[in-house]
Amino acid sequence: MDHNGNATALFLDSGQYTADSILDYELVYGKAFVSPGGKACADDLIQKMPLDAGDLVLDAGCGLGGSAFLMASKFGLRVDAIDLSENMIALAQDRLRELGYPKTIQLKQADCLQIDAEQKYNGIYSRDVFLHIPEKQKLFSVLHRALKLKGQLLFTDYCCASPPWDETFSAYVEKRGYDLQTVADYSALIEQAGFQVIEALDRTEDFINFSEQELARIETLNATPSVKKHLASDWLAKIQRARDGNQRWGQFLAIKITE
Ligand SMILES: C[S@@+](CC[C@H](N)C(=O)[O-])C[C@H]1O[C@@H](n2cnc3c(N)ncnc32)[C@H](O)[C@@H]1O
Repeated sequence: MDHNGNATALFLDSGQYTADSILDYELVYGKAFVSPGGKACADDLIQKMPLDAGDLVLDAGCGLGGSAFLMASKFGLRVDAIDLSENMIALAQDRLRELGYPKTIQLKQADCLQIDAEQKYNGIYSRDVFLHIPEKQKLFSVLHRALKLKGQLLFTDYCCASPPWDETFSAYVEKRGYDLQTVADYSALIEQAGFQVIEALDRTEDFINFSEQELARIETLNATPSVKKHLASDWLAKIQRARDGNQRWGQFLAIKITE
């Protein structure tokens, strides 16, 4: 990992993804998931990728490995699952062990920007990861190189409305260190990298629905009152940002059409 990768890993591991906060997120999203909609949403999205059993997929920013496990166990895919956060990878090792650790999953700590594979993958899947990566052109060029011709790229991500943003949203994005795109800007970036965009969807309404279900789950959690209180406050703020319109949630499917 290069110097920047190390610095970013440290930023993630000591900020948004401390071991405790990962475990809190997992309570809400469900076992081995740290992204909107949890397992049910992951299952729907994996099915959108026209892949055959035995195909090799990269899960870029795999988190706790829930999607990688689903891809391997339900869809018979081989998965290279990478994540930059040391805390995430350590917990993902535990989760995969608990789930029976299919031999078809290779889990390792790595930076999406440092993938040096060429024409290796039939598909690349990524859930709510790219918001952490400001170097979007480099990112899509690396992913493009790693895919086989006609390979599929499927990802979801936190997105935004075109600026100007309200103060609350600007402060939130700054505090988290996110780099957010509009759905239209993401489409343009993917196309510039040599993909044909099959789908670029603003799924903010679904994001709000998922978040409301997750908020209802928080009430029922077997957690301390203070954990439940801070999770509920995070989720209420997230729902409000999405309702106010600055925070969006995008889903993208693209196919590699140039060498
Ligand atoms: C919101 S979590 C989603 C995790 C997982 N995709 C899921 O659906 O449960 C975002 C993940 O992106 C990872 N991440 C951030 N920047 C990364 C990078 N440059 N390379 C690899 N992973 C990264 C974080 O460590 C974190 O695990």
